[in-house]
Amino acid sequence: MSTTEEMLGRSDANDLDAILAVENVHINETIHAVKDNAEAIFTWDYEKGARPALNKLYEKAKKSQWNGEVDLDWSIDVDQEKLAIAGLQQAPGDELDLKGTAFEKWGDDEWVKLDIEMQNWALSQFMHGEQGALICTAKIVETVPWIDAKYYASTQVMDEARHVEVFAKYLDEKLSGHYVMNPHLGLLLDDIINDSRWDMTYLGMQIMVEGLALAAFGFMHQMTEDPLLKQLLRYVMSDEARHVAFGVLSLKEYYAELSDAEMMERQEFAFEAAVRMRDRMLFQREVWEKLGVDPREGIEITRMTPESEMFMQLLFTKIVPNCKKLGLLDPNDGWLRKKFGEIGVIQFEDWADTGSEYDSFALGEDTPVAAS
Ligand SMILES: [Fe+2]
Ligand SMILES: [Fe+2]
Repeated sequence: MSTTEEMLGRSDANDLDAILAVENVHINETIHAVKDNAEAIFTWDYEKGARPALNKLYEKAKKSQWNGEVDLDWSIDVDQEKLAIAGLQQAPGDELDLKGTAFEKWGDDEWVKLDIEMQNWALSQFMHGEQGALICTAKIVETVPWIDAKYYASTQVMDEARHVEVFAKYLDEKLSGHYVMNPHLGLLLDDIINDSRWDMTYLGMQIMVEGLALAAFGFMHQMTEDPLLKQLLRYVMSDEARHVAFGVLSLKEYYAELSDAEMMERQEFAFEAAVRMRDRMLFQREVWEKLGVDPREGIEITRMTPESEMFMQLLFTKIVPNCKKLGLLDPNDGWLRKKFGEIGVIQFEDWADTGSEYDSFALGEDTPVAAS
């Protein structure tokens, strides 16, 4: 069993200085190379439908393809400033004690600027995460030994290309700036791609990264007043729910066979990923630097509020029930259950798992798929 220090490189999971001290290697890169240690696996068992749940998912995916160029209404004008001003009705300044902080003299202009930059930052991270999903899923096509899973994963590769494409287009045409990949998200993606075991790609990407993304997209979909972003997220979520279900349905079979020692490795990997994703949500160093605010102070004032804490917890509403469905919470004296308790997210364990609820995200009459 590893210590927190061994897993995270720091002894206190909540050490904000350590979280902020991580160097961002992506700032001066044009490409980023990661060693992919896995073997590409051919299978000679071509029996389609040997795994009915995966086959069903594959058939659904083939019918659910959409085209970001024509299905989304790119003629919608996005006025970031106007949207930010409308959101200011709940300006943090109204409820926080800002005396003696860098925010003391902030007026509406500064809060609007912050909102705009945070939007640029959040959408940039979504775009980078989508590229991570594209690469991980291409890897799954190679490494998973089951034909039904290779078939399904190939549809996800197409989905992820479309997601990178629409987020990149939205950033370029509608927003006002890009940010580089967050280093905590980058470290997690590197670890996932680096691992030679095929199930770890699924656990890291489909269960953890995409589980969090599905919750985060859902939250933004609810909150945004921009009809184009609402539509874009609605389409992406319909794919994303299938992707998470793909992880749950594949790993459920595989994890049923693993020993406690093997499960321990998966439990640790899941916890490490959870903490890295929480760190990524805190690490907005580049935004604060751009606005001339000390990052530590910026984070403490805006993110350490009860609302932010609640938002961070809500991001785990998909991950925790999915980990439970995979049997990851209880082995080894309930190690992961305790760890999720420590970071305040275990209360979601009985929420719907995505293997059961993915159909409810499918595009409906409100969001028809192009009939071509
Ligand atoms: Fe995606
Ligand atoms: Fe995805």
